[in-house]
Amino acid sequence: MKKQFKERAVKLLGSEAEDYFEILKKPLIKSLRVNTLKINIKSLVKRLEGKDWVLKQVPFIKQGFWVLKGPKHIGNCIEHFLGYFYSQEPASMIPPLVMNPKPGELILDLAASPGSKTSQIAAMMNDEGLIFANDVQINRIKILKINLQRIGVSSVIITRRDGGNYRKNPCMFDKVLVDAPCSAEGAVRKKWSILNQWNLRMINKLSRLQRFLIYSAFTALKPGGVLVYSTCTLTPEENERVIDCLLQRFPDARVVPFRIKGLKTRPGITEWGKESYDSSIKHCARVYPMDNDTEGFFIAKVRKR
Ligand SMILES: C[S@@+](CC[C@H](N)C(=O)[O-])C[C@H]1O[C@@H](n2cnc3c(N)ncnc32)[C@H](O)[C@@H]1O
Repeated sequence: MKKQFKERAVKLLGSEAEDYFEILKKPLIKSLRVNTLKINIKSLVKRLEGKDWVLKQVPFIKQGFWVLKGPKHIGNCIEHFLGYFYSQEPASMIPPLVMNPKPGELILDLAASPGSKTSQIAAMMNDEGLIFANDVQINRIKILKINLQRIGVSSVIITRRDGGNYRKNPCMFDKVLVDAPCSAEGAVRKKWSILNQWNLRMINKLSRLQRFLIYSAFTALKPGGVLVYSTCTLTPEENERVIDCLLQRFPDARVVPFRIKGLKTRPGITEWGKESYDSSIKHCARVYPMDNDTEGFFIAKVRKR
């Protein structure tokens, strides 16, 4: 672990930093989300348990399960090919819960590939309404397309645009998700090598890209609409700073508190080094890996007045 990474974690977590370093060494438990567009929860659980799988429900989402016992690669089983489930980390299931999409709404998923959250949003909408699933990288769009076909959605249009270009579609969407490209510090339990690439220059560069994307997303949102911003990282530069810049630039943006039953979260920070952020940013959520045995995540809910 890099010295600077450790020092920053101590600054954020104080005496709890040791718990954080310990859990990072523990591999993630495999997990899945039942695709209710194709099968109901009870039927899939019965079917998998009939094959000797041991499942444990994720406390904060009824479609989410940890696979305590099952095949080495859950993506290679027939139920996965049939689109009965999506292999998804529980923390990654939080942003759509915060968005709370409803059937009939017009949604933008600005950075959508490989499609875990697009498919979850589509299931929450019962495949009724319209989702623009966008990504900039053609290779990742191919994966997105395969996943959405497997999951069986028809309410999705895939676009390949630089997310910044959605500012040219002002006030169009009811809800927008920006699940931003990030330094992925929260995914270390899945891929330890992330820590080798970790550096402050990259973090600051990503922070600029994230601001560019969130400004575009907010512009594309209708008045009264909801924007959810999420990252699988815990660096304040990529999270609280991005939200603070949004609030400064758009006076009609307001951070909204939220709570998800069964999920332990910590408040967004309002001081980091020489920077201080808007006090409403405490209503954002930091999800630390040791709190729910998941990846690390950050989620902000913003409403346009
Ligand atoms: C964290 S991943 C998204 C994961 C996805 N939301 C999911 O849940 O499956 C970030 C995505 O942002 C895309 N991306 C990077 N720069 C972008 C840009 N300028 N505009 C749109 N998408 C971008 C990347 O290709 C990548 O697929």
